[in-house]
Amino acid sequence: MAYIENLALSRLARQCGLVISMAALTGALAAPVAYGGTTQPDTTLQVLHWWTSASERKAATLLAARLADEGVVWRDAGIPGGAGIGAGKVLKSRVLANDAPEVTQIIGVSIKEWADLGFLLELDKVASTNKWNTVFFPTIQNLIQHRKHVVAAPLGIHRTNTLFYNRKIFTSLKLSPPESWDELVVVAARLKAAGVIPLAQSSEPWQVATLFENLILAESGPDYHRELFVKQNAQAVSDKRFVQALERLRQMKGWMNNPVDERVWPEVVRQFARNEAAMMITGDWVKGELNEGGFATDEAFSCTAMPGTARYHLYSVDTFSMFTNDYSRVAAQEKLARLVATPAVQAEYNAVKGSVSVRRDADPAKMDSCARASWTTFAQGAAVQAPSLVHRMATDETSKDAIIAVIHRYFIDGNVSIAETQAKLAAMYRAFSSNRKTNQ
Ligand code: GAL
Repeated sequence: MAYIENLALSRLARQCGLVISMAALTGALAAPVAYGGTTQPDTTLQVLHWWTSASERKAATLLAARLADEGVVWRDAGIPGGAGIGAGKVLKSRVLANDAPEVTQIIGVSIKEWADLGFLLELDKVASTNKWNTVFFPTIQNLIQHRKHVVAAPLGIHRTNTLFYNRKIFTSLKLSPPESWDELVVVAARLKAAGVIPLAQSSEPWQVATLFENLILAESGPDYHRELFVKQNAQAVSDKRFVQALERLRQMKGWMNNPVDERVWPEVVRQFARNEAAMMITGDWVKGELNEGGFATDEAFSCTAMPGTARYHLYSVDTFSMFTNDYSRVAAQEKLARLVATPAVQAEYNAVKGSVSVRRDADPAKMDSCARASWTTFAQGAAVQAPSLVHRMATDETSKDAIIAVIHRYFIDGNVSIAETQAKLAAMYRAFSSNRKTNQ
């Protein structure tokens, strides 16, 4: 067992670019476990996640309270950094130090990466007792499984192709929410002419790439989005739809703050909420944040889909995985897994978080207009669903980060041409594909 753990740790160390000796690992494994069974009761779970904004904290607190009702203590380890950019790094270093938290927000393809290393608790018993194979949408079931074992518990589905618009500004300028690219261009021009910043946006790489994958989806739909970001087909990069999405990304830069500064996403939400920008295109965690800030849905703001994507759902599904560690917390870990997927917690938690239920038996009549549109669209199945690149639904961590970096560079630096960007990405896809063949 220890030998298998050592191998997994050294593989992880290689992935993190660390050189680590087997002797050092043996030493680390022999070191006392930080939250070992003797010092803490078995009912305490440390939960590592990246929910640090006001609404995210509220959603986490709600889960902690429900868990406390069942006699389990949630020990919070929130790591700042939108889209988990900080939490992912912290998790890797903690696992290497043999200090893995009992519960972690691990999402999308990352679940399989961690499960492959052999660290994750199998939740098959919870899944079968609670009929997870029938109550969840099929996409959710696929996400939480690895080699026929359930290794994650789902929390909620975010829609990343959401356009938020400020109702006060739209009403005073007699604007209607745009449904197509051409309408969006007209709306942006009217806003600019009135002295209003059309789009609140940050230049943080993941926030730029979120906008870009919206443009890709709008150009083409889920199939092409998958060709590009799941299959990473080098030929898809030379497609004219890719060129057009890049052109539009640069055009949109003219609708943002000048310069587009690098701000955390809640800061961008505050700009929008202060009526200092008329629209935002991103995930519906923004809705949770607006609601928590006192702005009710369909009063101060409304949401619609990114123009051209009304039929589609660019999804990011939040999930918790459990680290086995010394197996002393399994009962509490299973309690948490069961609890988060119950109808009551799903309804309560998702209403705060801005996401929607992972369950097919949720009641859309009890949701607000944004959530209802999201849930009913997602319910239509895989043909309308696109797995978000930025939120780890499409590909592994390393390729995701590399793709985001190329798009970000193009966005930031006006001297980088479309042709250069295409060449770089195509070369990268060819390299990924030959790496995969070598590793098979
Ligand atoms: C996503 C996650 C959301 C939200 C967002 C912003 O990856 O699914 O829950 O936290 O990042 O950080």
